[in-house]
Amino acid sequence: MSDVMQAIQFKSIEVPNRFALAPMTRTSAEPDGTPNGLMADHYEGYAKGGFGLVITEGTYTDDKASQGYANQPGIINEAQIAGWKTIVDRVHAAGSKILVQLMHAGAQFQANRYTDQPLGPSEIIPKGAPLGFYGDQTEWKTPRAMTEADIQTVIDGFAQSAINAKAAGFDGVEIHGANGYLLNQFLSTYFNRREDEYGGPLENRLRLVAEVVRAVRNAVGEDFTVGIRLSQGTVTDPDFQLPEGESGFRQIVEAVRDAGADFVHTTDGDVNRKHFVKGDQSLAGVAASVTGIGLILNGNIDETNCQDVANQFPGALLAVGKKALANPDFVQRLKDGKEIADIDFAMLQPKATISNELAWRRQNAA
Ligand SMILES: Cc1cc2nc3c(=O)[nH]c(=O)nc-3n(C[C@H](O)[C@H](O)[C@H](O)COP(=O)(O)O)c2cc1C
Repeated sequence: MSDVMQAIQFKSIEVPNRFALAPMTRTSAEPDGTPNGLMADHYEGYAKGGFGLVITEGTYTDDKASQGYANQPGIINEAQIAGWKTIVDRVHAAGSKILVQLMHAGAQFQANRYTDQPLGPSEIIPKGAPLGFYGDQTEWKTPRAMTEADIQTVIDGFAQSAINAKAAGFDGVEIHGANGYLLNQFLSTYFNRREDEYGGPLENRLRLVAEVVRAVRNAVGEDFTVGIRLSQGTVTDPDFQLPEGESGFRQIVEAVRDAGADFVHTTDGDVNRKHFVKGDQSLAGVAASVTGIGLILNGNIDETNCQDVANQFPGALLAVGKKALANPDFVQRLKDGKEIADIDFAMLQPKATISNELAWRRQNAA
């Protein structure tokens, strides 16, 4: 297991091993979006459990329509920055690095303390139903199609949030361009029905994504790590495919690289899933074929395949979700050859909060 446990230089960050905690929303911040002590214990636990890199849950970027869930953290004011700083300091003290995931919910909007009106590329609601474990909403609200002024506000929100992340001491930011949230909606032919320069052909649909990356890069300078998470699928439509297939995905990766991204973080049901309408590679494979961009890979990475994935993609970080929830000390257990548990989704019920997880742990320890 030497490779996967070896320290790696990932852009400007030295990561003590190849493992990253995948970003996971826990709706456990204060109602005003301030990160709290419960969250600090939670993230510190993953650092102590051996994850070389912690990626935080999706964190909202403005006081307009970016928040998607009740008790979601933000990074837009002094109190929120201070809350994150405590978390960053504790993760660093435990020897790990930490990125904040910057997220705009767009049409995938369940609760927002600033507005009742979601925004999206077009007046299209997500497929399926709202996620019960993030709130009580049972129906989507129809978004308002964004104006050029709304688009500028979104870009400015990401850029200012990245500046705030730097102030909080984060090692970098991950822009959320995956899973059906706003930036992913612009890339999607399901959500994006626009007829202006942000809709239609892929070079238009990826315009906002590239503009956000460029604005964030310009805001934080060259030395701060900036990346973006990308997927085809969404949380309620995991099998969605880009009509442009593999070459379209390559075009997106090249565009974000050229806009100043240091890395892309691909996520799919399985890291090796080959799921393009045109082409025979995985998302990870396509991203790896683009030169000059770092990689974080996600999708069913566990104790049985991590070394193979690490060998297949030298230099990539491996982001672990469900196995990390089940084993916050996943990396340490792997090192020690200890048993690794499978996830019991009861730990995220009835809501995916940290307190419910702790209650589940107390019950299951007894
Ligand atoms: C409770 C929960 C919350 C999640 N929240 C986020 C999130 O905030 N941002 C994100 O990009 N992905 C989120 N995801 C997706 C995970 O990061 C990851 O992509 C998914 O669990 C698949 O990886 P795995 O096969 O290792 O579990 C979440 C997943 C779970 C289970």
